[in-house]
Amino acid sequence: MTGIIGAMSSEVEKLLEQMEEDKAEKISGITYHSGMLAGRPCVVAQCGIGKVAAAVCAQTMFLRYAPSELINVGVAGGIGSGVHIGDVVISSGLVQHDMDTTALGDKKGFISGLSLVVIPASKRLSEITVHTAEKIYGSEKVHLGIIASGDQFISDGKELGRIREDFGASACEMEGASIAQVAYMNGVPFVVIRAISDNADEKASGNFSEFCEKSAHETASLITGILPKL
Ligand code: ADE
Repeated sequence: MTGIIGAMSSEVEKLLEQMEEDKAEKISGITYHSGMLAGRPCVVAQCGIGKVAAAVCAQTMFLRYAPSELINVGVAGGIGSGVHIGDVVISSGLVQHDMDTTALGDKKGFISGLSLVVIPASKRLSEITVHTAEKIYGSEKVHLGIIASGDQFISDGKELGRIREDFGASACEMEGASIAQVAYMNGVPFVVIRAISDNADEKASGNFSEFCEKSAHETASLITGILPKL
């Protein structure tokens, strides 16, 4: 079974429309929909925004459904001049940009429980996803890179510059690295797939309102494209 988590309804609704659902159960306020999607058994949940909600959802999914891999799908702010609205960023690894114990001598983003900064995504899942995405969107719109998560909507150049400088990230969002940490702790392969809704700059909130739904919906065909290959 494949676990799929999105934060907002726009990030999972197209998948749920296509799912042949067997069961829906609500745990701690989050509904887990299980059934068949693109010929594969899946469990899909909308976790809500932010790292805590995402961690609760991912860990519950592991304990209840024991997925063999986990996909986090949604939108993100693009970082860097080559990453445009409508592009797709696929994780090579995840960082928590708001994790900061530098005062204790650690590197920025160091996660002491895991003893690392970058949580590596599954190479196999990332490769399958990049390959499939290039066929759907064209290779110029597909980027493999670091995705940075934190409990902040990034909408200013200074913050954005800090995240780019500290971590070399290609996108920022609010759940992926939390789901990655839970997956890593459970020894389960994962990939994060993010369609770009804005560039995390001063125009981000306006662009996000305009492009969030469209970008989010576009990822559904990528997910249904990779599921038969898993
Ligand atoms: N998700 C989409 N755009 C984002 C941004 N600019 N910051 C954080 N999360 C996002």
